Amino acid sequence: MHATLSETRQREKLDVTIHSTAAEASISLAREIASLIRNRAAEGKRLVLGLATGSTPVPVYRELIRMHREEGLSFANVFTFNLDEYYGIAREHPESYWSFMHQQLFNHIDLPAEQLHIPNGTLPRAEVFAACHAYEERIAELGGLDLQVLGIGRTGHIGFNEPGSGRNSRTRLVTLDALTRRDAERDFPGEDKVPRHAITMGVGTIMQARRIVMLAWGEAKARVVAQAVEGEPRESLPASFLQHHPNVTVMLDSAAAAELTRIKLPWLVGPVEWTPPMAHRAVTWLAANVQRPLLKLLDEHYAEHGMADLLTAQGPAYQLNIQHFNDVQHTITGWPGGKAGADDTHRPEKATPYPKRVLVIAPEPSDEMLGMGGTLTRLVEQGHILTVAYLTSGSLAVPDEEAEMAAELINAYAKERGAGIAGDVATAPQTGIAACGAATDAPAAASATAQAAATATATGPATSASTSADTRRLKAVIRRGEARQALRCAGVSPAAARFLDLPFYERGRYRQFFPGEDDVAALSQLIGEVAPHQIFSTGAGQEPNSVGGICHALLMAALRRARTAGTLPQGARLWLYRTPDKAWQPHEINMAVPLSPAQLARRTRAIYQHKSQLSQTPPPQSTLCEAWQVAEASSRNIAVTYDALGLAEYEAIEAFQRVDVAGE
Ligand code: F6R
Repeated sequence: MHATLSETRQREKLDVTIHSTAAEASISLAREIASLIRNRAAEGKRLVLGLATGSTPVPVYRELIRMHREEGLSFANVFTFNLDEYYGIAREHPESYWSFMHQQLFNHIDLPAEQLHIPNGTLPRAEVFAACHAYEERIAELGGLDLQVLGIGRTGHIGFNEPGSGRNSRTRLVTLDALTRRDAERDFPGEDKVPRHAITMGVGTIMQARRIVMLAWGEAKARVVAQAVEGEPRESLPASFLQHHPNVTVMLDSAAAAELTRIKLPWLVGPVEWTPPMAHRAVTWLAANVQRPLLKLLDEHYAEHGMADLLTAQGPAYQLNIQHFNDVQHTITGWPGGKAGADDTHRPEKATPYPKRVLVIAPEPSDEMLGMGGTLTRLVEQGHILTVAYLTSGSLAVPDEEAEMAAELINAYAKERGAGIAGDVATAPQTGIAACGAATDAPAAASATAQAAATATATGPATSASTSADTRRLKAVIRRGEARQALRCAGVSPAAARFLDLPFYERGRYRQFFPGEDDVAALSQLIGEVAPHQIFSTGAGQEPNSVGGICHALLMAALRRARTAGTLPQGARLWLYRTPDKAWQPHEINMAVPLSPAQLARRTRAIYQHKSQLSQTPPPQSTLCEAWQVAEASSRNIAVTYDALGLAEYEAIEAFQRVDVAGE
């Protein structure tokens, strides 16, 4: 017996459509918009669109541009109103929403300039109120918004209506939430540069649109989406007010839908097919939910939580308990590369071949340490042959201050030695700078570094990460130094490091990445050279435009290619490590590598070597958000979860998920 669709959606108070990918969902919204535009044009009427910025709508805009170019879609009868704009930055600023919309959409279509509207973030404070009022008037004058496109922030904001925004709020000046500012940190390198205020349409303004489509991609949005869709409408989560609107669709990719009850706990909303993975998921959830170890679950616990049919088919409780306890037990191993000579029937990784060639993929430097630093140490200690591939340089995540500091050091050192800058830096590796990670590995790169140093000190600080290729180069050098130092700290030879500097990252910026064939080719070549028996990577489920999301898609493409070409050893396994942001439930873990207190402390020291990634905000504001703290807390949490299920009590655990190499 299967659950009906309406039955499974009983907890959803908004109309939700789940697409397998963000690309597929974006195409469907772009088609809806295009047909509205064409229908209105046929009637000689205008269409008024409400638009959003941020990563989320980017694939929709790309599809609209494609339709304009290839299918003759014209925007001549379209009027647009953007939701919001930062307050206090010029239109020309690369991070203004004005710039964003022009780069992502307006420059590539035939929308007349006088028909687009974006709140003005440069007005004197005294004029803002009147301008906000005029913005609303203009929307009304044109007949109101026909369709409003929305993203959702991790705080539950729509537009910049942060928690606390009223149901009837109008266009106004607002203060940005701390979490929203942290999410924007990577765009403005350095939190103190992120604007504190913005002008946004109000919740009430948005609610007046005739139709609203809210989009969300990636696992980081899953929780807030579920709260907005299934929770009570409330000011603490402004997106939940959409429940009061008669014509809203929430479009999700599968990662963003993961916390909806029908996906996460389907047995609570209807009958399910009790496959082994479904049963495992339900039983481990039940133990956590009733706060009992697996071996102490009773028949009535099953019966009271929508699992009576599981009990009938596979019970009694005693039988189910022991089976699923064993399944969790078998995920635990101190031998992440497999234990040579041991019976591996119930071990997560195969005993042979030994030693293994292991390829560890880090989309950005530090990802590998945060997700699997302790496992890296073990793999080396157990004799495996490691290659750690850093796919991108990570230069975009280095605050300008760090580059200025490095530039100053290089120049001061050059002056001290009384030599020309370039020559001096070029010899630095022999003279000691290399030891602290500030110098480059090759003379060519060294002179680029010197040039960057000269540029940074001669022209003053760069205003944004993208302004100077030289500055980005220097930032990349900083990250390479940190990555090597962190590897040393974890007991891995820095010679294991491979820096791929994938082209999509080097030629792009956040939200403006265009991965291409050259990226897949570079990764395929690496796989061909290493011929790994075991691969560790991360990024599945991340927002598809993020560095992690793009790198995961590239890796899967390269692996498929390698498999077809026969360059991947038979039986090679792919393991995903977690990003500290995402908590995995026990049923999602196929390998759990325990860390002792000393091993955890060592990993934290290694993570700490990525100093350019430490928050720029001094404590106490930053005490809970440093990456090493988040990583430590999440590894401890898995240990606590295992302990609560009745397994052995460890200090911390690094968790891995096994994925089919073909990506199915
Ligand atoms: C953008 C906006 C915001 C974003 C939200 C999600 O104009 O108003 O509400 O939609 O912050 O941002 P991304 O898409 O970058 O995750």
